[in-house]
Amino acid sequence: SDPTLVARAAAAKAALGEKLFVLGHHYQRDEVIQFADVTGDSFKLARDAAARPEAEYIVFCGVHFMAESADILTSPHQKVVLPDLAAGCSMADMARLAQVEDAWDALADAGIADVVVPVTYMNSSADIKAFCGRNGGAVCTSSNAEVALEWAFDQKPDAKVLFLPDQHLGRNTAVLKMGMSLADCVVWDPRQPNGGLTTDELRDARMILWKGHCSVHGRFRADVVDELRATIPGVTILVHPECTHDVVLKADLVGSTEFIIKTVEAAPAGTSWAIGTELNLVKRLAAQHPDKRITFLDRTVCYCSTMNRIDLPHLVWALESLVAGHEVNVIRVDPDTEHHAQVALQRMLELPG
Ligand code: 13P
Ligand code: SF4
Repeated sequence: SDPTLVARAAAAKAALGEKLFVLGHHYQRDEVIQFADVTGDSFKLARDAAARPEAEYIVFCGVHFMAESADILTSPHQKVVLPDLAAGCSMADMARLAQVEDAWDALADAGIADVVVPVTYMNSSADIKAFCGRNGGAVCTSSNAEVALEWAFDQKPDAKVLFLPDQHLGRNTAVLKMGMSLADCVVWDPRQPNGGLTTDELRDARMILWKGHCSVHGRFRADVVDELRATIPGVTILVHPECTHDVVLKADLVGSTEFIIKTVEAAPAGTSWAIGTELNLVKRLAAQHPDKRITFLDRTVCYCSTMNRIDLPHLVWALESLVAGHEVNVIRVDPDTEHHAQVALQRMLELPG
C-alpha cells in the first residue's frame, strides 16, 4: 500500500491515542487491517465494541450493519464511524422492515404468529433487529446460530422460527446442527403474495427461512469441492455457513470467519485446505501459513465488494477528519430502534457458550 498513506494513517492514529479504537472485520483489506486494534468475526467485534467504554471514537472497518450494532452496544457519548457509508451488505438489504411486517401479518392470518419466534442474523439492518426485539426474538451470528435457535425453540411450546435474512445459515444450522429435515424448512419469498407459501405449508413448517443470501458465498459450488478433492490429496474443505446447503453438506468443517482462522492456525504444517469464504481472508491466511497449502474454493475472484469499499484512502480521510475535529460518517441509530434492537442483541450476548 501507498507508503505516504500508511504514514498518514499511523500519524492520525497516534494523534488520537486512547480516544480511538479501530475494529477490523476479517474480510477487510490488508492495507486496512494493519491499523485495526482488534480483528474478529461479527460476534467478537460486537463484544469488543461493547467492552471499550473509554474510547470516544470507534472506527469500524467493516460494513454498515456491523457499525450500527456497535452504535447500539456502546454508550451514547461514543461515536461509531464507518469510513465509507457505501459499505453496505447486499444480504442485509434483502430484508426490509415493511416486508418483514407484511410477512408477520400473514403469519397472524395463518393463525401461527403467536408461536413464531423471529431470529435475525447479525447481517441485517437495526430496524430488523428491533423488530425481533419487539416480538420476543433475538439476533444470532454465524458463531452462535445453533444456540440461538435452541433458545428460540425453547421460548414457546411448538415454537417455529422465522429466520432472517439468510436462508442458507438458517437451513444449514437447522438441518446439519439440529437434526431437522429439509421438509421442516420452507422459504418465504417477500416478492410473492403470502411469501409463495400455502397456509398448510406455513403451519407444518418449523423453520420459515427468509429468501435472502450472500452473493459472495453463493458462488461456491459443490462440483468444485469434488474437483478439489480429486486433485489435492487429503484436502480438508472448510467453509462459511452462508454457503449453499449442497456445498456445506460436502464440506468437512463449517464455521464463522473466526472459526476458520483458528482451525487453520491449529492445523499441522504440510496439511492442505480449500476454503470457501471471502478472498481477502483466504489470501491473508495463505500468506500467514506458507507451511500449509491453502486454496480458494472457487475458480474466480470472489471479494466482497462492499467490504472492499473500506480502503486506506477512506480510512486516512476518516482518521484525519477526527484529528481535525470533524466527526464524519458517524452511524447513529434512532433511540426507539436502538432500544428494541438492543433487547435482541442482548439476548444473543446472554446465550450460553
Ligand atoms: P462472520 O460473523 O463469520 O465474521 O461473518 C460475517 C459476514 O458478513 C460473512 O459474510
Ligand atoms: Fe454481506 Fe456477503 Fe459481504 Fe458478508 S460477504 S458482508 S454477507 S455481502
